[in-house]
Amino acid sequence: MSDSGVIRRLDSSSPGVLLGVREAGEASSPPLLFLHGFPLHGAMWAPQVAAFSSELRTIAPDARGAGASDVGTGQYTMELLVDDLFAVLDQVAHDEPVVAVGLSMGGYILLRALEREPQRFRGVVLCDTRSAADGRTGKLARAIGIRRIEQEGLEPFVDDFLEAVLAPGTREKRPESWSGLKRMMMENSPIGVRGQLLAMASRVDTGRVLGSISQPSLVVNGSEDRLTRPAAGKAMAAKIPNAVFSMVEGAGHLSSVEAPAEFNRILGRYLQHIR
Ligand code: MLT
Repeated sequence: MSDSGVIRRLDSSSPGVLLGVREAGEASSPPLLFLHGFPLHGAMWAPQVAAFSSELRTIAPDARGAGASDVGTGQYTMELLVDDLFAVLDQVAHDEPVVAVGLSMGGYILLRALEREPQRFRGVVLCDTRSAADGRTGKLARAIGIRRIEQEGLEPFVDDFLEAVLAPGTREKRPESWSGLKRMMMENSPIGVRGQLLAMASRVDTGRVLGSISQPSLVVNGSEDRLTRPAAGKAMAAKIPNAVFSMVEGAGHLSSVEAPAEFNRILGRYLQHIR
């Protein structure tokens, strides 16, 4: 049993490719799904699993190429990551709709999944994420990242990524957070990380789904998030009919990891509200 639950290896949407899925809590409790950010894996949700698995069944899959999941071909699209999510839900939730929490890349997967099969979800939590697809600059940056990892390995990419996404000064003020996140990122396969960059670059804009999300929704943003600014999170929440917006003060892009107590307070209030 890890801090993020018992890891089972379940079928993905491709024959022979298995995905690591972290589960905790009673099998009879309502399901709470967590979709991790890039280039992390499901263990990033350990503080939320600790807080919520006494009352809910937490399910935190590792995306293809991350954590305990197989890498497969390394050629991923966002559609494939959504197919994988549906394959996991078929095996762990069956027909029961889940409350889903997606951070950044996890939010991209969740928004597209909502566009394709909304009936699978009974609540939606979007953290430090956006519906817009990558523009020209974003796509070119992904291409540079893919080439850089191929040429230099994962570590320099991960160092620069952490510098860009964590709240300013985190490396100096909380070196243990920095090194814990770096360790988790370095556990991932470089081929998998490149595949996820490819998937994010190829994703479609999901802005059109926002107005039709009927589930009670929460949009969360770190106040210091420089990748998805709080104003963008607030604007996205305004387009979702039944959404509230909450800010995690002092956190950067990885709000659930950087300020877990405040994040859990916000998530706990939302979960109480929808129960
Ligand atoms: C993430 O945290 O999942 C990534 O920063 C998303 C992205 O690079 O667009």
